[in-house]
Amino acid sequence: MSTLKILSVNKDIKVAETIDSDFYLNKEYYNLSINKIFNKSYQFIIDTVSFNSMQYPFIFLKNSIDEYLLLSRVENQVLCLHNVCTHRGNILCLEQSSENKIKCNYHGRKFDLKGKFLSMSGFEDVENFPTKKDNLIKFPVKIWRNFIFTGINPKINIDNFFLDIDNRLGWYPFEKLEFIKDNSTDYEIDAHWALYCENYLEGLHIPHVHKGLNADIDYKSYKTELLDNGVLQYTCSSNDDKRLPIPDGYINSDKNIYAYYYWLFPNMMFNFYSWGLSINIIEPISQNKTRIRFLSYMISGSKQVVDAPSSVDVVEKEDEYIVQNVQKGINSNFYNKGRYSARHEKGTHHFHRLICRYLK
Ligand code: FES
Ligand SMILES: [Fe+2]
Repeated sequence: MSTLKILSVNKDIKVAETIDSDFYLNKEYYNLSINKIFNKSYQFIIDTVSFNSMQYPFIFLKNSIDEYLLLSRVENQVLCLHNVCTHRGNILCLEQSSENKIKCNYHGRKFDLKGKFLSMSGFEDVENFPTKKDNLIKFPVKIWRNFIFTGINPKINIDNFFLDIDNRLGWYPFEKLEFIKDNSTDYEIDAHWALYCENYLEGLHIPHVHKGLNADIDYKSYKTELLDNGVLQYTCSSNDDKRLPIPDGYINSDKNIYAYYYWLFPNMMFNFYSWGLSINIIEPISQNKTRIRFLSYMISGSKQVVDAPSSVDVVEKEDEYIVQNVQKGINSNFYNKGRYSARHEKGTHHFHRLICRYLK
């Protein structure tokens, strides 16, 4: 019998204590978070421009959910199919391909791009064959702007989140965003996935951890807004060069906004800068190992600064250092919970409450 206690965080941030550190330390909570949170999430897979063929295989949340899936293109639609053969379980598609049939390289079973069983030799005498069970399973797909999302059993609503981005950033040159492979990279850290997310969700640490970034922003203007399954943070710039060119008629057009930082529960970040969009995906590898995928989408003609005191790669290293230290600290038998800054840690509080809600 499991003796897991039900985690809870008080709704009122002024009296609340942070989530119990058992959440990060007990393997059962880790497994629960994979089954009850990541299993129900949509994940960003690829943009519609980079998916420029008929079949695109991928692993859904490598090292945690580990499902082999495949995007296929049928007319103007993108579908997501199980990438496992319905015969004896071979992986079907191994690399992006322009073939208009999916063919298993083990015994030659064929499917169309909708996942329908087409043919297989050697099965002439088999009775009651083929049935629906011989088709490939389909998974839900959502496309927002140029970005393709899918999930195993998605239950976490993402529509309101993207509506907020559309309303606020309707002017943003989405159509000019180009994926830049050279500026994109994966990081691996020795910390629980939620520690990385909760650090992202507060600006309180900026003056202490990110001296370069802090010089670029007007820290007093830092704001956090809670969204349905998400959080938005933004701040004004301390200089005119690094600001979003928000046209009149849009929210904050009278302000020098440095960036909009959008986070979608449980693990995706969409950071809008004047040079482009940085998407960060936080993928659990194990209870104390996490992969952070930085995907860089630059507005064509602009320049992403790297290796500067406030650039995203430098800020990332500073965050990694602190988050890995927290991982060591919460292992202590003498630490269990802390308190929230009611002014600066609303985002982290919202995140912890979402965790508690979905784990129930
Ligand atoms: S496993 Fe695919 S045809 Fe046999
Ligand atoms: Fe940070």
